[in-house]
Amino acid sequence: MKLKDKVAIVTGSSRGIGREIALRFAREGAHIVVNCRNTLPKAKAVAKEIEALGRKAVVVQADVGTAAGAKKLISATLKSFKHVDILINNAGIIIERNFVDSTDDDWKRAIHSNLDPFFYVTRAALPHMMKRKKGRVISASSIIADRYDFGGSNKMSACTAAKAAVMAMLRAVAVEAAPSGVTINAVSPGYIATEMFATLDQKGLKKALQMIPLGRYGTPDDIASAMVFLASDEASYITGHTLRVNGGMAMT
Ligand SMILES: NC(=O)c1ccc[n+]([C@@H]2O[C@H](COP(=O)([O-])OP(=O)(O)OC[C@H]3O[C@@H](n4cnc5c(N)ncnc54)[C@H](OP(=O)(O)O)[C@@H]3O)[C@@H](O)[C@H]2O)c1
Repeated sequence: MKLKDKVAIVTGSSRGIGREIALRFAREGAHIVVNCRNTLPKAKAVAKEIEALGRKAVVVQADVGTAAGAKKLISATLKSFKHVDILINNAGIIIERNFVDSTDDDWKRAIHSNLDPFFYVTRAALPHMMKRKKGRVISASSIIADRYDFGGSNKMSACTAAKAAVMAMLRAVAVEAAPSGVTINAVSPGYIATEMFATLDQKGLKKALQMIPLGRYGTPDDIASAMVFLASDEASYITGHTLRVNGGMAMT
């Protein structure tokens, strides 16, 4: 077990990639704080699965794109477990729309769920980790921040800005946290088959597949494996890094 008795918060873990990360971390021995914004029954079901694995699970419904939501998440974690070892900033949304047609609300929502959580939740968790001189923060970025042409419909500019900002900002935070032994990294997924896929342009999805050298979409498990590695002792000398998990798409 690579994460035995660690306490891990996984934001947006009621479904999709976050759910898989939560379950994989539990199988690796971690206790999990499951988080969602709306889908509470799904979050509770994930917690049950974690408990069936013999690990502890706490569900915290909180909008992590707000300071109040972040505070609620960290307070509930400390109340239940007294400390936090790992923070996975996984929550996020995708909006597929032409730049010129994007609304004020699109822009606000893209930043709210993809960038604001990195600021608010990391800021709330980091002082506790730095005091204990250990901790891991791993955030979700995206292939859309790496390539101008990522297949699909290529109409995701608002979210692109947020995901690129996460990758840029984490390096600054990593330098600040390094003297305390806390590492700050990101995992940048390519096309990962989750519920998010149903909301995307289906013709574009087929086009994207042709751009993936390994010839398949990724699975939530592919991302969970990278997260386990970065959260484990094996990655103790890695910080400020974005690990790209995209079937080779970023290099083409
Ligand atoms: N799937 C892909 O191909 C892909 C590619 C690149 C990057 N990513 C990134 O990977 C992460 C997970 O993606 P996914 O495909 O698993 O997404 P998903 O299936 O749509 O699940 C998103 C999760 O995030 C939660 N969430 C969203 N906004 C939130 C907020 N403000 N506060 C709290 N929870 C919030 C959702 O909770 P509710 O259900 O309660 O709303 C849900 O649990 C995202 O950051 C995404 O941008 C995904």
